[in-house]
Amino acid sequence: MTNRDLDWFAVLYGDTDVTRYLGGTKTRSQVEEMFRARVTGYYDANPGLGIWMTIERASGRPVGFHLLNHIYGESIIQVGYGLATHAWGRGYATEMASAVLRYGFADLQLENIAGMADQDNLASLRVLEKIGLERRGERTFPHPAYATAGPLAWFEGTRNAWLAGHP
Ligand SMILES: CC(C)(COP(=O)(O)OP(=O)(O)OC[C@H]1O[C@@H](n2cnc3c(N)ncnc32)[C@H](O)[C@@H]1OP(=O)(O)O)[C@@H](O)C(=O)NCCC(=O)NCCS
Repeated sequence: MTNRDLDWFAVLYGDTDVTRYLGGTKTRSQVEEMFRARVTGYYDANPGLGIWMTIERASGRPVGFHLLNHIYGESIIQVGYGLATHAWGRGYATEMASAVLRYGFADLQLENIAGMADQDNLASLRVLEKIGLERRGERTFPHPAYATAGPLAWFEGTRNAWLAGHP
């Protein structure tokens, strides 16, 4: 993404349904700060990682984002995804997250990739399970970005095991 995508990103983060389990809606200035730290400013500081826009192939429209980045305040790399509500329920998150996992394990040669979701976010829990990460209980994180969340469902995958199961 580039600064041209900021308006679109702000609309997504202004949606109560999309952000229900992402810490709630964000104001324009909160989105601008996050966009700088986690999107445009993140790519160069963390080669190969970041948050990318998801484009629906058939329509050419942006429908969401998929990511491989550090959990706030941690060195652990996570997979993540979010979609505009009109794009829910079509398997896109599973497709996005599987592609991102393969990229992380096969291309970037990462040893471990984690996933986490609010324990009530049933669709996301199912996606993490479907892409082949293993549930390992719950975890909490001290970073203020997770202040509104309770203990999060925690998933992990390791490169050799994941690639062996997904040739
Ligand atoms: C979570 C999210 C990305 C899922 O996207 P999606 O493209 O609809 O997901 P998929 O279609 O690939 O898979 C969803 C799975 O969850 C299941 N599911 C959806 N809602 C469910 C519910 N309320 N209870 C149980 N299962 C549910 C679906 O049936 C499907 O599983 P199946 O293929 O076994 O039938 C989407 O809802 C979203 O963008 N939510 C807002 C942002 C967000 O919460 N991101 C994740 C942060 S951890």
